[in-house]
Amino acid sequence: MTTQTYDWLSYAARIGECTSADTLAGIDHELFGRKAGLLTIALKELGTLPAEERRRKAVELNEAKRTLSEAIALRHKTLGNPSGEQLKSEDGIDSSMELPPLSPGHLHLIPEFIRNVEEVFGRMGFDVMTGPEIETEDLNFNLLNIPPEHPARDAQDTFWIQQPATSNQKFVLRTHTSPVQIRYMQSHTPPFRAIFPGKVYRKDADATHSPMFHQFEGLMIGKDINLANMKAVMITAIRELIDKTAEFRFRTGYFPFVEPGLEVDMRWQGEESESREGKWLEIVGCGLVHPNVLKNCNIDADQWQGFAFGFGIERMIMIKHRIPDLRSFYEGDLRFLKQF
Ligand code: PHE
Repeated sequence: MTTQTYDWLSYAARIGECTSADTLAGIDHELFGRKAGLLTIALKELGTLPAEERRRKAVELNEAKRTLSEAIALRHKTLGNPSGEQLKSEDGIDSSMELPPLSPGHLHLIPEFIRNVEEVFGRMGFDVMTGPEIETEDLNFNLLNIPPEHPARDAQDTFWIQQPATSNQKFVLRTHTSPVQIRYMQSHTPPFRAIFPGKVYRKDADATHSPMFHQFEGLMIGKDINLANMKAVMITAIRELIDKTAEFRFRTGYFPFVEPGLEVDMRWQGEESESREGKWLEIVGCGLVHPNVLKNCNIDADQWQGFAFGFGIERMIMIKHRIPDLRSFYEGDLRFLKQF
């Protein structure tokens, strides 16, 4: 026995020409009706065919089924379902059913904050550059005026990377974004101003430390750029990025690549502040770029001077949104992430 052969393509044409939902429903029924639908019957009869022919016919019928049901769904959409009637084939598939609305996601707090940083500093004329997360010992330490035996290295618990046999350099996971200062100064001529956001790594873990975190470095070099300029830029940024009433304090700090060096703390806001020891959180190191660092980048330290700073991004966001534990950023818990 052979199944009846139909010109399935002619149905596609009829569907395309359909001008009412009723006619379309009629064609749908004619093809896909549970008992008498032409395709339904043809598919059922496949089982009675000899193997060879069955295989060939199955391909043809399944192709027709897919094409025609898609054509019906599409036509139905174009007709706009004027009668408001649901187009249900007898096997219960409703090709007119609307998809549930998409719920769009949003950026994670950290990249969102970095975009904001780039925008705020962009308005102040700052360039943006990024550097690699695996750095040489030279860029991460030596050229920043931190020689091998310098005690300042202890302040940055470093992940060292096994030295490749082919290299005479030691490598680290960069402990701060400051090496990008060197990269920028080596490839640009002053005057300039730029920021360098990115990931940094230190062997540290508690509520305010994570082995991977984010910083953005700032650098501005000119003929007479001084500490007052630095404070003005930093205060503007803190107010724009956190809030206008953010409380902070500048105090002296030591970093071998700046002289003088300062640190900025911000006050915990809201209820959190009561339980926080000292109520202040260090968020940035800064100062005037040390002449040795300028010299290391072939910049004449008698002609040029300026400032650098390195903000801790997670800590700024913690203050901004009153987040008590920095580890929440990386746990991927939607209940946390959806709040922002
Ligand atoms: N790199 C320093 C740190 O990570 C911060 C800093 C940047 C300090 C620039 C001074 C100037 O602690």
